Amino acid sequence: MKNIKEYAALNNVPIIQDDGLDLLLETIKNNQCCKILEIGTAIGYSTINMALLNSDIKIVSLEVDENRYNEAKKNITRFNLQSQIELKLQDALNYTTNEKFDFIFIDAAKSQYIKFFELFEKNLENGGIIFTDNLDFHGYVTGDKQIKSRNLRQLVTKIKKYRTYLTERKNFDTQFYSVGDGVSISKKLY
Ligand SMILES: C[S@@+](CC[C@H](N)C(=O)[O-])C[C@H]1O[C@@H](n2cnc3c(N)ncnc32)[C@H](O)[C@@H]1O
Repeated sequence: MKNIKEYAALNNVPIIQDDGLDLLLETIKNNQCCKILEIGTAIGYSTINMALLNSDIKIVSLEVDENRYNEAKKNITRFNLQSQIELKLQDALNYTTNEKFDFIFIDAAKSQYIKFFELFEKNLENGGIIFTDNLDFHGYVTGDKQIKSRNLRQLVTKIKKYRTYLTERKNFDTQFYSVGDGVSISKKLY
């Protein structure tokens, strides 16, 4: 796992922060989730960590970038987790499935969070959880850091809209946590 983290740091691959990962794993364990959809694999760091929790856990993970997908594939094979993880080279925005999941981890393009949520909520069982990362976006959303470019301002606006959107969804109970880069846990009520 240390090698994957080192590779990520050397190659500027964004991966979940340590305390965000702890909360992610804790949430999966506490809710006994075993059918997971991950949107944004990168090189498989969070994917592998989730699969290692329990051999009953099955994960479908989507990654649009071919180099990262290939690296993730190598890492998953290295950990011998091919039977638990179905990795797809796939733009999540064009992915449709009838499969049901009890946990969805949204960790891809931040500007598309509402779209990902709306696209995949039908695949979530009642009582299931949508976990989203990067809702503080390095302190820019919380106002701890000054925004200096137009693109960044637009991105921050979209993340703020997603936060509001989550609070307005009546059939989801959402809690926000200031751990890692800011995460939310949304439980589907009905
Ligand atoms: C923050 S990284 C994922 C990190 C990973 N979950 C981890 O913590 O180890 C986000 C990834 O989402 C991918 N991505 C962005 N938009 C996507 C899309 N529409 N469909 C699939 N993957 C996408 C990016 O290429 C990037 O590798």
